[in-house]
Formats: sequence, C-alpha cells, structure tokens
Amino acid sequence: MSVPEHVPAGLVRDFSYWTAPGMAPERGGDPQGALAGLHDGPPVFYAPNNTYDGHGTWVFVRAEDQRRVLQDAETFSSHRRLFEQALGEDLPTIPLEIDPPEHGAYRSLLNPLLSPKRVMAMETANRARAVELIEGLKDRSRCEVMQGFAFPFAVGVFLEFLGLPQSRRDEFLGWADKQFHGTPEERGEAIRTVVGFMRELVALRRREPADDFMTFVVQATVNGQPMSDREAVGMGALLFVAGLDTVAAAIGFNFRYLAETPEEQARLRGDPAAIVLAVEELLRAFPTVLMTRIASHDTEFDGIFIKAGDRVSCPSMVANRDPAEFECPNRIDLTRENNRHVAFAYGPHRCLGSHLARRELVIAMEEWLARIPSFRIAEGTAPLTYGGHVFGIDDLELAWGEKAVAA
Ligand code: HEM
Repeated sequence: MSVPEHVPAGLVRDFSYWTAPGMAPERGGDPQGALAGLHDGPPVFYAPNNTYDGHGTWVFVRAEDQRRVLQDAETFSSHRRLFEQALGEDLPTIPLEIDPPEHGAYRSLLNPLLSPKRVMAMETANRARAVELIEGLKDRSRCEVMQGFAFPFAVGVFLEFLGLPQSRRDEFLGWADKQFHGTPEERGEAIRTVVGFMRELVALRRREPADDFMTFVVQATVNGQPMSDREAVGMGALLFVAGLDTVAAAIGFNFRYLAETPEEQARLRGDPAAIVLAVEELLRAFPTVLMTRIASHDTEFDGIFIKAGDRVSCPSMVANRDPAEFECPNRIDLTRENNRHVAFAYGPHRCLGSHLARRELVIAMEEWLARIPSFRIAEGTAPLTYGGHVFGIDDLELAWGEKAVAA
C-alpha cells in the first residue's frame, strides 16, 4: 500500500469500502452496522487501500465534517469522471459530476421533473405496478425479493418516468442485472448498451417529440444554449444508474429488517400510517450511497493537509450513526422523529430523485405488508450483503405461510 508523502503516518488506517470486515460480500452481513465502529477512531483518516480508481481515499467520519465537505463544492469537486472511466468515453454525467456554478443551471431545469407534485402524479401508476408484482408472487409462499420484486418495481417506475412502455421491462431488467451484478466486462457492456439506448431515444425525441422526460430535455436550453445530444445522453444514462440500484437496495434492506423483526412487521401491518416514519428511520439505519469527491486545490481541514487531486469520501452510513447527531444511533427506532439523516446526501448534489425514492419505498412496504402475511428469511438461506459505491443485498429469500417450511 503506498501512502502519499503529504499524509502523516498517524492518520493512515487499513480500511476499504470494498474489503474491510462487513464490506466484502458476506452471508447475513450488516455493512452499515459494521461501519458504525469508525466513530471510535479519528474523525478523519487516510485509507490507502480504499481504492476504486488506483488512489487511496480520505474518510470523513463525522456528520458535521461531511456536511462541510459536501457544501464546499469549490474545494471538493464532484468532477470525478467515474462514469467516463466506466464507459471509456467522454460523456458528462449531468448533474452528478458537474460542479457549481454550471451545476445549478442543470438542477433548475431538472428539479421540477422530480418535484413532489410530479411524483404524486405518478403515484397511481406506481402503486398499481407494485400491486401487480406482489399479487403475482403472493401465492408462492416464498420469493427472492430482489429479482422477484425490488428490481422489477424500480425498473417499472423508471420506464414510467421516461415515458417508455412497460413491455420493455425485461429488456431493462437484463441491462440492470448486468450493470449492477455483472463482471467488470459485463458492467462495461451493459452501460454501453444503456448509453446506446439513450442515444437512440434522444434522436427519436428530436424527430418525434412526445409528452415525456426526454422530449423536455432535448427541447431545453441551459444558459441560453440548446441542450446538446451529449448532455441529454449523459443525463438519461445517469438516471438509469442513480435511480434503480439505489431504490432496489433500499427495498431489500428494509424488507430484510422487517423479516428479522416480526413484532415491527406486525405493528406496521396493523398501522400503515406509521410506514412513512419507519421508512425514514430505515433510510437512516441502512443508507446505501457513498459520496466521493476530489480535492480541486490544496487545502487544510482542521489542521490536516489535503492535496489537490486527493480522493475524499463521505460515507452516508457513517454520518447516519454519528452519536453527536442521533440519540442511540445504533438502535433502530421506527418511530424516531426529527430524523436528519443524510441518506440522500447534503449540499448542491442532494439526491434529485429523493421524493420519488421515498414514495417508492413507502408504496413497496405498504403494498407488501397489505398482501403478504408474516414473512421471514427463508429457512436455510442468508442474504448476501456487500459494501462499495452503492451498498447492496442479494439472495434475499423471504418465506411466508406454512408451505415455506418445507420449501
Ligand atoms: C433510496 C434511493 C436513493 C438513494 C439512497 C439516493 C441517494 C443519492 C445520493 C446520496 C446522492 C448524492 C451523491 C453525491 O453527492 O455524490 C444522489 C444523487 C442523485 N440521485 Fe439519488 N438516490 C436514490 C434514488 C434516486 C432516484 C429514484 C433517482 C431518479 C429517478 C435519483 C437520481 C439522482 C440524481 C440525478 C442525483 C445527482 C444529483 C446531483 O448531482 O445534483 N436518485 N442520490
């Protein structure tokens, strides 16, 4: 492990979001809980092994420090080019990897498309989608929830948002599966396929405008300039990456928690109005997104020298377990109020899709609890959890009813 010269030895720790205990793929693991222990160590440290692009990373532990980093986009840039690297081509990942002030113009354009009002307008269709999927599996008494419900639901919502027919769901699910679960080669291939698809969609909506997201985007102007094809493709592809895996993973962690706490499950089933608050606490306890930045110039943070080009990370899962912000942070209290969690980040890049994501999580839980009787992790199985840029859960086999015992 190589430590840059400007990093004092006392600030170096052997840690990685990919391989540290609880981060590497593990049966029955608790990756978010595993990171809570970082609060017992230094508030900022350097992890030379924490590499996703050949560089080590600074890790900011405290919620307050993370807010300072995420607010200071001038020092801590989002122009990381992760997407470009994955794709092997120069495509702007708008708005995620664009810095202020440019970023603000794109956000002003996009915010209304995912406003609470717009999200409510999609509510009936999104709820019907959840109901249809759950009705289709409830008689089975057992289901792998990620493939059987979480991903198909998230993809269905995405198609609705893009204005595409639901008949394309299996095709999109295949791309999503490769993108989020494939080998590095399969991931590269999947993302190129998505980009190719977005290119065709941009061209189609320029030729044949409709009343949908991509038509709005291609007809938009930013700072007086018409939107270019490159920009529109970058936006569409980013939404695919940002809006599917995150929602599916959150549904997975939520359902796993309920499967393991039958008394909470029964309480929410009997009091669906309590689900909105419960979802907030589960977002606090099991957030999935790691925020990363790159220092755009040399700077000092509470006496620590950070050099231009250094990678910086703000793990939402660590901020959300900060004892300075939350009483008993490791206790999951589904009635917790004033929950100022950072599952959707903080600052200018705060999640554009948070209103939609929240409703997806609430709808998924409401409709699942209304239709599926008391459920548990299927006997003899254990979900596979992992860390990384987006923490995740796979092989989530849930069982309900008598038949499941023999299954
Ligand atoms: C539970 C689900 C979700 C979680 C936990 C989540 C979390 C986040 C986080 C933490 C960020 C900030 C990343 C950073 O600053 O580096 C972000 C940004 C973003 N998210 Fe989400 N997200 C979710 C769902 C969605 C959905 C459903 C959409 C769209 C339909 C979406 C679209 C975006 C976009 C476009 C950005 C970039 C915003 C910007 O840079 O201005 N997200 N999300």
